[in-house]
Amino acid sequence: MAKKDIHSLQNIQGKKVLVRVDFNVPQDEHGNITNDRRIRGAIPTIKGLLEKGAAVIAMSHLGRPKGDPVKDAPFKMDKVAKRLGELLNKSVHKVDSIIGQDAKDAAANLKAGEILVLENVRFHPGEQAADAAFAKELASLGDIYVNDAFGTCHRKDSSMHGVPAALKGKPRVVGTLVAKELAILEQLFSNPSRPMLGILGGGKVSDKIKFIKALLSKVDKVIIGGAMTYTFMKAQGKSIGNSRVEADKLDIARELLELGKGKIQLPVDHLAVQKLDAPEGAKVFEGEIPEGWIGIDIGPKTIELYCAEVAKSATILWNGPLGKFEDEPYSKGTKAIANTMAASKGVTVVGGGETAEAVEEFGLAEKMTHVSTGGGAFLEYVEGTPFAALDEIDDK
Ligand code: 3PG
Repeated sequence: MAKKDIHSLQNIQGKKVLVRVDFNVPQDEHGNITNDRRIRGAIPTIKGLLEKGAAVIAMSHLGRPKGDPVKDAPFKMDKVAKRLGELLNKSVHKVDSIIGQDAKDAAANLKAGEILVLENVRFHPGEQAADAAFAKELASLGDIYVNDAFGTCHRKDSSMHGVPAALKGKPRVVGTLVAKELAILEQLFSNPSRPMLGILGGGKVSDKIKFIKALLSKVDKVIIGGAMTYTFMKAQGKSIGNSRVEADKLDIARELLELGKGKIQLPVDHLAVQKLDAPEGAKVFEGEIPEGWIGIDIGPKTIELYCAEVAKSATILWNGPLGKFEDEPYSKGTKAIANTMAASKGVTVVGGGETAEAVEEFGLAEKMTHVSTGGGAFLEYVEGTPFAALDEIDDK
């Protein structure tokens, strides 16, 4: 069922609009934002509401705080609020609480066209415990609820589910980002142009079992890279040297290979090193990887083969880097795929998380049909898991 979006909101001048955003951005060890894509993603919704005279109260989680004020300090929302202000080119209010008198006062004092960022909602245990009293208190700050947090739509946390539930009877809509992500993904799977290719990378088979099964049922071919390659190779009885492997997942890897017979393509050659920090000694091996060597990227023949697959596909869906791309000497495979997708005339969709970061780093995000802001949410959407958070949004 299609959901109401912010265009359905009328006469919101001066109204307090609670906007759940996903400002869970990657950070360095000092808490500095290393990629602000998710903040940029929410700007159209926030701007749209502010232009209509709403008083916007933005709320999000950041990281996975553990309840220790010292260790959790990098997860405070101050740097995010600052970045938001820079992107909006206006001052942003920030309050150090989520509920309670300070939050109430900050929300009550917020004027039409102003924006307030609450503290990290995960600093309160009620957020992930789906605590109804916490949700009710948080909901009391606003008159209208907007879900623009596509990246968190697979979570049933209070700010995603309990808060809109508590606001039943008042307008509860999706923001521009969620509406766009859902529209693109729905269109992608309802009637894709074929051939449709899935590109799968990343470290672990175990993180993506359901995703791989779903992908196999939807696409015509799946090409695999990244460290998960070595678990699949090991499952085939091949030598992988000292490469990373999930030794307890060989049965499931075998099952997936069987399921994807004729559809799954593994790399035909590998870039390998003897030590991770010694790229100067890297060597290419065809077929298997000998003892003492660690697979680190797909090899040149695989790059050629995979890029040819990308070039002849009409729809391409990519999730997971094909090598340790964050280290330049091991980024050739991931870069080549990104470049070939960027040059494709087909529909090119990139799943969020690391893959989206890679594409951004290469300066190619704008050349893709769509780069999702969802990591886990993107996977769960493709797997067909319904988003309970959206049940609490008004139908069109
Ligand atoms: C994400 O990055 O996938 C979302 O922000 C959800 O974060 P979480 O996995 O910590 O719930």
